[in-house]
Amino acid sequence: MGIIYDPASRQFHLFNQEISYVFRIMENEQLEHLYYGKRITPYQDLSYLSERGHRDMQVCPIKGNPYFSLEHIRQEYPAFGTGDMRYPGYEIEAEDGNRTVRFVYQSHEIYSGKKPITGLPSTYVESPEEAQSIEITLWEPDRKLEMKLFYTVYECLPVIARHVEFTNLGEQSATLETAMSLTLDMPDKDYEMMELVGTWGRERHIRKRKLEVGVQSIHSLRGHSSHQYNPFLALLRPNATETSGEVIGVSLIYSGDFLAQAEVDNFDVTRITIGIHPQEFRWKMSPGETFATPEAVLVYSDAGCNQMSQAFHQLYQKRLVRGVWRDQVRPILINNWEATYFDFHEEKLLQIARKAKEIGIELFVLDDGWFGKRNDSRSSLGDWYPNLEKLPQGIVGISEKIHAMGMKFGLWFEPEMVNENSDLYRAHPDWVLGDYTKSLGAGRDQYVLDFSRKEVVDYLYQKMYEILSSAKIDYIKWDCNRSFSDVFSNAKSPEEQGKVRHQFILGVYDLYERLREAFPEILFESCASGGARFDPGMLYYAPQAWVSDDTDAVERIKIQYGTSMVYPVSSMGSHVSKVPNEQVFRNTSLHTRAAVAYFGTFGYELDLTQLESSELEEMKRQIVLMKEKRNLFQYGKFYRLRDPFEGDKNTAAWMAVSEDQTEAIVAYYRIMQPIEWRYERLPLLGLKTEACYCIEEWERDADQEQDGIRSGSELEQIGLILSDWASGKKAIARELQGDYMARLFFLKEVSERK
Ligand code: GLA
Repeated sequence: MGIIYDPASRQFHLFNQEISYVFRIMENEQLEHLYYGKRITPYQDLSYLSERGHRDMQVCPIKGNPYFSLEHIRQEYPAFGTGDMRYPGYEIEAEDGNRTVRFVYQSHEIYSGKKPITGLPSTYVESPEEAQSIEITLWEPDRKLEMKLFYTVYECLPVIARHVEFTNLGEQSATLETAMSLTLDMPDKDYEMMELVGTWGRERHIRKRKLEVGVQSIHSLRGHSSHQYNPFLALLRPNATETSGEVIGVSLIYSGDFLAQAEVDNFDVTRITIGIHPQEFRWKMSPGETFATPEAVLVYSDAGCNQMSQAFHQLYQKRLVRGVWRDQVRPILINNWEATYFDFHEEKLLQIARKAKEIGIELFVLDDGWFGKRNDSRSSLGDWYPNLEKLPQGIVGISEKIHAMGMKFGLWFEPEMVNENSDLYRAHPDWVLGDYTKSLGAGRDQYVLDFSRKEVVDYLYQKMYEILSSAKIDYIKWDCNRSFSDVFSNAKSPEEQGKVRHQFILGVYDLYERLREAFPEILFESCASGGARFDPGMLYYAPQAWVSDDTDAVERIKIQYGTSMVYPVSSMGSHVSKVPNEQVFRNTSLHTRAAVAYFGTFGYELDLTQLESSELEEMKRQIVLMKEKRNLFQYGKFYRLRDPFEGDKNTAAWMAVSEDQTEAIVAYYRIMQPIEWRYERLPLLGLKTEACYCIEEWERDADQEQDGIRSGSELEQIGLILSDWASGKKAIARELQGDYMARLFFLKEVSERK
């Protein structure tokens, strides 16, 4: 790994064993992008990759040089108004209204390790040898503005992390209108763009489209990263699959409004841009002020999407998530939301908790409805004190009782919101976002608190601190249940309004950080009406996130499959819920529900007091299995084997392999039972080809044919044989056939084939 600067060619080359990233200083002192992709020999002058054709009608900023046109040059971080007509990396308006602001190279610094970004989440290193970084300083002499481009290359991952910082060293103000985290100009458009899209209840479904001339983009202007689009896109070469071909993944470590786009110009050059959405952003920098963009992460894979995902998983699991929970298996929980909704009292909760304890559950989570006078969604958000009618001894009392049973205790909060019917709103109506003297749009009967104001964040910190320090609380589910509208701060001047959306997110991060510091043992799970804030920014504070409010096992297969493109299994909040399912009214077996939820943090969300003893016994067995295997489920290397969005669209499969490749778990899901089906094979991945593995199927009747022992190479080349009743083979256990069927196979290395 290294970063080389060659003074002769004025070229920077960032590389490790996998990748190279090359750019140089041009004749006008701006930066030109030369190469990003699979590693090429460092110390090579790549200036021959500069494209300097003469094209009619171009604007040439260097007098007398008709071959120099920024519109036709692949740039590192382009300006607007200087001849490049494409969407820029940044736009600044000077105090005199002039928006043509051109920075030139001034200096650079290369160092080991990686610096944090003040107030923002970012990837990190544990020792300086893990990565090298470079800061390029560019300078705008007229207004005395400084721009620093930050790059980090990791030693052992095909990853480049980037962000930008602007500092106003002049005497006048300067206003950032656009400040993207990254632009990347690629020489052609021969890609498919992959995105994660959806809505409430079906988040992060995979969508692919061929790049065409023009702009193709995804975005959020909802205040959170959103159900609709995830701050991620990938470019796939046409031949790319899960295991082969070139893929470039781009991910933004941010939880607010974002824009991610691919702009293809008329010469088929593709410009990738990702960062804070410029639409509602306007950041006036006073003299002396610095603005830092969020961090963007680039992952390169020459072995398909699986390799890209594994790089994201490793980076985000080990160098984005922090704290005591980073490397720990997660407690198996019971959550009361779908069991009781708002309708509970302490005794009911304790009944559920007792059953939970009996079957081996480790954490009891009290969801919405424990505070103020909250009996429905119309009141009490903001009133963070316990409802003594429901909980006679408050949170202290219930927490003690749960702990006395030998379980951990968790609590739900929605700190950023307030109901009109609340003491907080009556005391501080101006604390909401939006002109409170006018009628405001409400979502789920609630308003958004103005987290761009420090006093609001301080108040919430105080209230949460009081509760968290009064009782033993081991886990927090932090919700955020509406999209933002009417964004306006009642406390800010007109010229500061363009800062509010970003400052809001900084306020959320600040509150998280202060609570994490005060209570380092607490396990945080982020949530936003299901998965509307399932993004890398959140993972920096909360190691796990609720994937979706849709708890139906069949729907979850697609959601978890799509989520795995970027996010590790250890981050995916997943529960077994009741049937018929509350969202889609589907009946699936307990077996299938667990077989899907196992690939996540795992828990239950249903009224255990309403179940038959046979169901509780089955759950008990499920929990024993999860406790035995959860390190493999949550931290194994994850391989997607069959895509539910493509092919027959009726089956899906994935597997997790232990780091030493001695163990694996394979999951195969089939939605509808076919009749008279072919013999099915499922080739596996990630095993030791020379090793032998013993295969055991979960919940398969003992007297039935076992799959026996196979070599890794057989399993990879031929695969598991999945034949069942439909393919004419003799019947297998009832749970392993029929609609909504799930099968799990446990592989363990054995010394030899018997
Ligand atoms: C959101 C969450 C749910 C639940 C409810 C409570 O919808 O996603 O899991 O916590 O809020 O109001």
